[in-house]
Amino acid sequence: MRTESEQTIYLKDYAPTPYRIVSVELDFRILEERTRVRAQLTVEPRPDTAPGTPLVLDGDDLKLDSIALDGAPLVLSAYAADANSLTLVEPPHRRFVLETEVTLEPASNTKLMGLYRSSGTWCTQCEPEGFRRITYYLDRPDVLAPFKVRMSAPKALAPVLLANGNLVDKGELGDDLHFAVWEDPFLKPAYLFALVAGDLGSITDSFTTMSGRKVELGIYCTHGKESECFYAMDSLKRSMAWDERRFGREYDLDVFNIVAVSDFNFGAMENKGLNIFNDRLVFAKPETATDANYHGIERVIAHEYFHNWTGNRITCRDWFQLCLKEGLTVFRDQEFTSDERSRPVQRIHDVQNLRTSQFPEDGGPLAHPPRPDSFREINNFYTTTVYEKGAEIVRMLATLLGEAGFRKAMDLYFERHDGDATTIEAFIKVFEDASGRDLSQFATWYLQAGTPQVGVSDSYDAASQTYTLTLTQKVDPTPGEPTKKPLLIPVRFGLIGPNGSPVGWNGVSGGTVEGDLIVLDSESVTLTFTGVANKPVPSLFRGFSAPVKVESGLSQDDLLFLARHDSDPFNRWDALQSAATTLIASAAQGSTWSATDADALRQALVDTLENPDLDDAFKAQAIDIPAETVVGRHIGKDVDPDAVAEARKALVTALVGPIAEKLTALYRDLAISVPYSPDANQAGRRSLRNGLLALLVAGSDQGAGLAAEQYSGATNMTDRYAAMAISARNWTSEAPALLGDFRTRFAGDPLVFDKWLTASAQAPDGGVIERMRATLAAPDFPRTNPNRLRSLLGSFVMTNPVQFTRTDGLGFRFITEAVVDIDKVNPQVASRILTGFRILPTLEAARRNAGLEALQALKDQHKLSRNVGEILDRILA
Ligand code: ARG
Ligand code: ZN
Repeated sequence: MRTESEQTIYLKDYAPTPYRIVSVELDFRILEERTRVRAQLTVEPRPDTAPGTPLVLDGDDLKLDSIALDGAPLVLSAYAADANSLTLVEPPHRRFVLETEVTLEPASNTKLMGLYRSSGTWCTQCEPEGFRRITYYLDRPDVLAPFKVRMSAPKALAPVLLANGNLVDKGELGDDLHFAVWEDPFLKPAYLFALVAGDLGSITDSFTTMSGRKVELGIYCTHGKESECFYAMDSLKRSMAWDERRFGREYDLDVFNIVAVSDFNFGAMENKGLNIFNDRLVFAKPETATDANYHGIERVIAHEYFHNWTGNRITCRDWFQLCLKEGLTVFRDQEFTSDERSRPVQRIHDVQNLRTSQFPEDGGPLAHPPRPDSFREINNFYTTTVYEKGAEIVRMLATLLGEAGFRKAMDLYFERHDGDATTIEAFIKVFEDASGRDLSQFATWYLQAGTPQVGVSDSYDAASQTYTLTLTQKVDPTPGEPTKKPLLIPVRFGLIGPNGSPVGWNGVSGGTVEGDLIVLDSESVTLTFTGVANKPVPSLFRGFSAPVKVESGLSQDDLLFLARHDSDPFNRWDALQSAATTLIASAAQGSTWSATDADALRQALVDTLENPDLDDAFKAQAIDIPAETVVGRHIGKDVDPDAVAEARKALVTALVGPIAEKLTALYRDLAISVPYSPDANQAGRRSLRNGLLALLVAGSDQGAGLAAEQYSGATNMTDRYAAMAISARNWTSEAPALLGDFRTRFAGDPLVFDKWLTASAQAPDGGVIERMRATLAAPDFPRTNPNRLRSLLGSFVMTNPVQFTRTDGLGFRFITEAVVDIDKVNPQVASRILTGFRILPTLEAARRNAGLEALQALKDQHKLSRNVGEILDRILA
């Protein structure tokens, strides 16, 4: 069946608008049933615009009530209006004021783009193209204007009235209405517009900036939730201080407000001076939030705050440049967390995330460059490639330039581009100008899709004390990119001698080595190191210095040697991960590991656990056996997820068996007797303890009982949730009872219900789909709430490969059928869930065909949104 418009938009077609918007005045008259929006746009032709050029404003689902130009109603022949656009056929060739009125019904806006209601609160989401659902406008990021917003609403329904910028007026009106006027002095694109009206509670605080200005801070939420907002407030203040310290960036308005809402399409939004958040990234108390939730809150509060400079003061010229603000801002939030917590632990965390979500995207049918050059639906490009790979690219720039060089370049970026809507090219140019380096080859990272594979081979000649290291790179073809260019890959490295300490060299030839950095800039580089006293083991990509896959060629022995001796904590962790991944993958493909391999890996794990110099959070990551999806990705094709799951379980059993008592004792020792605190130390200890529990449950007989015991004795959500989720993932005999208890114990708390949904969806047993169907079909299931839907269906497709990819197609059809229903309500949520099918090309034939059949039926039998249609076509292509 036909889908919505299948038109493709190309970067090469970019042209500035013929008109600019000088200023915007908006008047929102909010009533219970509908909202009238009057917009007064002061518009002016650009100097080179030919007289008579039409002005075309964007709309989406709008109906024009009235239109006037310079105060006089327009005659019918002067304009054309439909739901998706408003055209002034021949506007005056001078500055003029266009006034339009539309009526909105926010309560029936289930797409959650534009103005909508969430639990009674009126709120907005405009990025990327939601503003055109509020009023006719030049809704694109390169149109910047000052906004003045007047809003009125019934006092009882909406005592709180917020918008961007500063409050300049407020007062009472008749009929139990009141009003407020907000003015934002900073020029901004419409995607940063925000408005909130509702009956909300709040907490307040203040922050004094480095130049001594006092900023009023507020967090608004449902009444009764105020006490759960303090961690978010603390995170905000630490973010503000960090951006001053680390980047010299000061906040620029007198107010900074955050509003938490329950219905939100993604995490949060950086609207100028008025961030709007998914409430799951604001609310926290120990009984209902996990350590991971606290961590997430800190990170996203920082992320949105950092956008004030990287996103708002300097924005994107067009949506192809999304990575300009997102990649850079993710890099900044990663750095913030690294400085606030443990740098190596954060690095491992970020790389794990990259490998579980970005690598699969980049190696499958949805692969695209961080800066794409075409799209059908821009909402489909808010991806882990744009965000997380984008952050890795910025990190590589920081690695190449060094800390001081990077800061100098960032200073130049802020100085040169403040107030601009700019591009990736301009960003790269700043780094070239600040460093004097030619970064033209480096820029390919933004323009080319796919994860590079780096091959390693080496040899040592004892007689001449010469070590030779050859590095090669290749990128497999991705959709639309059959041939690939070599990238500039920074390889941070060291050589390790037989006794575990670093080995030096006198000279190196054959390529570029800058200190501890190899610059790999062609398909193959062979470096010859002279004066190398002993045969070294190379430690490459320290700190994960580039987002690549390495075929190190290292033996299990060498990997475990690195796991013990590498001075780089990331590579110690990574060596253990590779050792385990290799063993599981080969067993899943029919060979078996030797007892010696298992013994050696076990010993390395024990040594790590017993090492007094390593902290708990690191140890937790080190003993975390790679997920089935990571192993599947490593195998790459003809994957049988059942075989992977079995092989993983068998390895864990072999590892744990002989040391189950030891691990249990350690597990018991790690119990915490002091009151809960979300700080990194305590959280690290809990994560190690729960990591041990995961090993024991998967690999020993006593594990299931320990988990049940931990579940009932838990005094915080981290421990309770871990016990339940681990039991569910291993489908222990206690799992159904724990899930049942959890559900009733926390009935009525939607964010805890999400945890139940997530854990339930991860059960690998054959009954899981039937149970999920029943959950979804319950009359009280909140079927329009993105958090609920994603918790259940998103975690099923992304983390339950055994049941999702069943050979009989039941898992695939369960998802396509759900997608059909969700698409009618909220296309963004539907298309996001459908991306789980990107796994198909890696699967063995029977599963792959069952998946393709489900997708083909979806395409043939249903009318789909542009969002879902695009994802579907790209996976089927
Ligand atoms: N700019 C927001 C952020 O990264 C997210 C906006 C996401 N928009 C979307 N359509 N998915 O913080
Ligand atoms: Zn962002």
